[in-house]
Amino acid sequence: MGEFFEHVKEGLSKSPKEISSRYFYDAKGDALYQGIMKLDEYYLPRCEMQIIDDKSHQIAQDIAAQHSSLQVVELGAGDGSKTKHLLKQFRPYFSDLEYVAMDISENVLDINQTEIRNEIESIDYNGIAGNYFETYQSLTETSNGRLVLFLGANIGNYTTEEVIDFFKFVQSGLDRNDYFLVAFDLVKDPRKILAAYDDSQGITKQFNLNLLERMNRELGANFDTRHFDHFPFYDPLTGIASSQIISMKKQTVDFSHGFSASFDLYEAIHTEISKKFFWSDIEEIAEESNMHIAQNYFNTNKGYSFVLFQPAG
Ligand code: AVJ
Repeated sequence: MGEFFEHVKEGLSKSPKEISSRYFYDAKGDALYQGIMKLDEYYLPRCEMQIIDDKSHQIAQDIAAQHSSLQVVELGAGDGSKTKHLLKQFRPYFSDLEYVAMDISENVLDINQTEIRNEIESIDYNGIAGNYFETYQSLTETSNGRLVLFLGANIGNYTTEEVIDFFKFVQSGLDRNDYFLVAFDLVKDPRKILAAYDDSQGITKQFNLNLLERMNRELGANFDTRHFDHFPFYDPLTGIASSQIISMKKQTVDFSHGFSASFDLYEAIHTEISKKFFWSDIEEIAEESNMHIAQNYFNTNKGYSFVLFQPAG
């Protein structure tokens, strides 16, 4: 029945129960996430845009010190609405500028292509749809310098172990002088973080509960979302914001292909971590993955950062 069903069966049979946040993003989840990005409480996209607006020239200049032509590879590229501003500022610094956009969604890449091509002169554009763990591996060698982008604070969804594996994986496609630029949401006032995942309009709640609706749509399950609640919390000790779905009664949910899951009253499904990083976390990631921190570009309140890594060799 496919990968999603296998994942759900396994995750709901475990104790504690869990389903990965990567399944949030069907068409409805994408639309809800667009809504989240417009929320006052969800400060992340504004921090990211501030760095792109204020620091892209500096980033380009730092990279141009080693490379006159550049291939920019973006993992989880999305619609290109932010990256186009970065690439626009990059353009004058490189004789050849190539952009390889990788995203799971073909639809999103169509939008990405239009955005980027309309906005940036003579850019060599390449969109590759698929899981980036596969598409990145099939990149062919280039004589240009390479910059891999991983923006949007998406790194926060990985556990520390996964982050280190991910960095090693990215590094396998980098030469000594190539670069990896990663957006990190940093630790800040715990109340501000919690509010970002517990918005007053309840969009984040809908986003989390959409996972149940997606199982109804795609796996023929019969979740009644009125009997489940969104429960976000933040732990300042670890910097981890977590989201859970709580069963508000004792209930059993059936799937059309011969699987059912029972929930105790107040039993939780873990669905997402959104890690906020201490600077020491970032240093540890670099060390463990054999990279070094070449540069760091903060937003104005220093709560968000683009960190530029290079293979330590
Ligand atoms: C897309 C991973 C950056 O963790 O902040 C937003 C997803 N989850 N609200 C995040 C999300 C709940 C978001 N990222």
